[in-house]
This record gives sequence, structure tokens and C-alpha cells, in this order.
Amino acid sequence: MNEKHYHIITYGCQMNVHESEKIAGTLKKMGYEPVADSEDADIVVFNTCCIRENAENHAYGNIGALKKLKKSKKDLLIAVGGCMTQQPGKAEELKKKFPFVDIVFGTHNLDELQKLVELKLKRKKSVVDVWEKEGEISEKDKPFRTSYPNAWVNIMYGCNNFCTYCIVPYVRGRERSRRPEHIVAEVRSLLDEGYKEITLLGQNVNSYGNDADGAFNFPDLLREICQDKRKFRLRFMTSNPKDFTEDLVAAIAENPQICRLVHLPVQAGSDRILQKMNRKYTFDEYLDKVKMLRKRIPDCQITTDIMVGFPTETEEDFQKTLDLVDAADFSTAFTFVYSRRSGTVAAEMEGQIPEDVQKDRIMRLVSLVNSKTREKSKEYLGKIVEILCEDYDGKKGVYLGRDEYGRMGYFPSSENVVGKFVNVKITEASGVSLTGEIVR
Ligand code: 5AD
Ligand code: SF4
Repeated sequence: MNEKHYHIITYGCQMNVHESEKIAGTLKKMGYEPVADSEDADIVVFNTCCIRENAENHAYGNIGALKKLKKSKKDLLIAVGGCMTQQPGKAEELKKKFPFVDIVFGTHNLDELQKLVELKLKRKKSVVDVWEKEGEISEKDKPFRTSYPNAWVNIMYGCNNFCTYCIVPYVRGRERSRRPEHIVAEVRSLLDEGYKEITLLGQNVNSYGNDADGAFNFPDLLREICQDKRKFRLRFMTSNPKDFTEDLVAAIAENPQICRLVHLPVQAGSDRILQKMNRKYTFDEYLDKVKMLRKRIPDCQITTDIMVGFPTETEEDFQKTLDLVDAADFSTAFTFVYSRRSGTVAAEMEGQIPEDVQKDRIMRLVSLVNSKTREKSKEYLGKIVEILCEDYDGKKGVYLGRDEYGRMGYFPSSENVVGKFVNVKITEASGVSLTGEIVR
């Protein structure tokens, strides 16, 4: 068998999952085919994340585990890229710790991967190339997508916000917006190919266009995309509450293709902590945005990200977070324990919170969030919801997909409905997922 194979291991968020699709696109172009196991690959790529320490530890563990394989398979190429390598000194540290790694690249030179692999194939010495400065936004290689009927589309890169806990602005650089005509063309061609759900990606989609003197903006981009009247769903993430505007809410209200689900990370409930986080809004201001959204779009649901154990967080501060979960009526929340990231402002703050206190708070928060999510699930019982079927679960013998609000639903079907919108009557709604039957 002459074919060459790649295996990509991805850590972190959807942004990274999509970036792995771009890496896959480059490797496919070079003649590599995907394979499910590192053992069968000619090149293994680690697309890393460093937003929290555990994501980094996870990658370290997995890279280390390949040492044996590399010994027995000298021609195997091992490449490490993504956010982790962008941290100062990290590339050198990686090379020292794992001398068997062949290529180290960063987030800014993703487009250079082909060159780096070709260079490594020509020489013995490893290739380490991590750029400090942002690269040009290139539209070079077509991503190799594996998430049909869903597709991710970047609308911007980087972040200018410098929330004090967050490493993203350091490893992904300043905000750069893609040209609207490129985005619209990509979405149109995805719809031509039969994709049914498009998710627009950016660290803060509300500042889309700010780097182009306001020549274009996010609500207008949504409006432009929705000129296409074919049946599809449009989602976006993430919205920073400080920039969440009435015009954006209007754009959602005007266009039924846009899902009535807004992900609006709040992070914390205490005004003092929000200020220390540099979030630029208060508990009341956040709730005002939630109210504005619900008033204009009553069937809108809101999800959020919440962090516990930020430096100096007291029990009273934490209580405010719980109050906010109650008041905002989130349909679900992604919850995190604050992780100290070297190089950020918060890492140097006094009053880092002990692990046992953090653990106790996250458990209480998760239990509140879960009980709310279960309550919301119950409201689905007996209802008919439209589900976009994503896959077939061979083990369980059922199809699965999501409704507009991102709820997973399972249902049997005699025909293959992957990629189709189906109406499902919900018969069971325990926990977070739904079970039902197709109705015609
Ligand atoms: N520790 C824990 N969680 C973090 N996030 C960002 N930085 C950190 C950190 N240092 C969370 C935020 C953000 C989500 C993507 O990750 O809640 O919204
Ligand atoms: Fe990080 Fe804040 Fe930027 Fe989000 S908005 S990526 S939390 S700095």
C-alpha cells in the first residue's frame, strides 16, 4: 500500500476543530489520507489548546506517549501546532521535553504547513517555526470538512479584549476580520454542496469589522448571508456581552434562518470580580441585555460560560454568580474552574483561590445549572420539534441530531435521514437529551 496517511489530534474549542479541518485540507492536498489511529499514520499532528492548564497537560501526555511509536517507526512525522506553541518559550520547551517531535508550528503560520512538512522531509533536523506576528488572512487551502451537515466558517481571528484571565489575545493576536464577500461566497458554496447548518466563528463576533473602520459590521453580514432563501440554519459564536447591540438582536429577529439561541458568556455575577476580569459590564447591565433580547425575541434561549475561583473571589461573590444563573434563566451553561495562565494579568494577582474551595464552588454551580437544564428539558415533553439529523448511532440503532436550540434528540427511522430536517415528537426528556419519533 503506497498511500500516505495522517492522523490529527485536536484539543479545545470549535475554532480549533475547524482549524484541524484546514490542516486536513492541506495534508489531503499533499496526498495524505485520514486514518483513525496514530499507529497507522505517516504524520501525526497535535493541534493544541492552552486556554486551561488541563488542556495543555492532556496534550503533553499524548505527545509523550508517541515516543515509543516514533522509535519503532523512524519515518513517522510528528508535528505540534496550535495555541500552546504560541506561548513565549513554549516551542523550545517542547523540543527539549520531546526531542522526537519533527515540526513545531503556531497559529499564525497554519498556511505554511505544507512548506514545513516538505522541508522536514528533505532534512534530518527538526523544523521549528512559530511566528510572533499575525499572518495574512489567507484563503489558500480548502478545509477538509468532516462534520456534515454542519459547517464552520471563520469570520475573524484574534481578540482585542484582554480579559485578565485569558491567554487568547496573546496566542491568537489582534482582531482581523475576513472580507464579507469571502465569507458570503464560502457560505453560498457550502449551501450549494448541501450543508444545512453554518456556524460563524470568531472570539468576539460583535467586533467584526472594527478593524476595517466600520466598513462592514456583524449584523449586516448576517443580513447579507440571509439573502439566500434556501433552507438552512445560521449560528454564530461568541458574542461578548459588552458589545451585544440592539441592531444585532434586530438582525436575528428579521431572519428566521438565524437560530434563536445566543451564546453570551457572562463569566461571573459579582461586579467586583467582573471588573477585575476586565469584562466591562456589571450584573445589571448583563441582565439588561438579556431582557432586551427576550423582549424582542420571546422564544430566544441563552447559553453562557461561567468561571469560578477567579483570584479574590469570596463566597459572597460566588453567591452573585448563582443569583445570576437564577435571574438570567440560561438554557445551559459551560462551567469552568479558573486556571492560572502564565503571562496574563490575573496570573500575577494576589488572592489565588485554593483548589478545594474552587472544587466546592464548581460542584455547587454545576448542580444548579444541571437542575435548570433538566427543568428546561421537561418543557419539551409532547412537543414536536424540528431536528436537523446529523448522524446514525449504529450501536443504539437510532438517528440523532439537534434542534434549533442545540438540544440533542434521538429517534428511529426506516430511511436514512442524515442531513435532513425532520419533525420529531418528543416522548422522553430526561437529562439533557431528548428522545422521540418522527411525525410526518
Ligand atoms: N481559566 C478558566 N476558564 C477560562 N476561560 C478562558 N480563560 C480561562 C481560564 N484562564 C473560559 C471562559 C471562556 C471560555 C471559552 O473559556 O469562560 O468564555
Ligand atoms: Fe478571552 Fe475575553 Fe477575548 Fe473571550 S473576549 S477570547 S475571554 S480575552
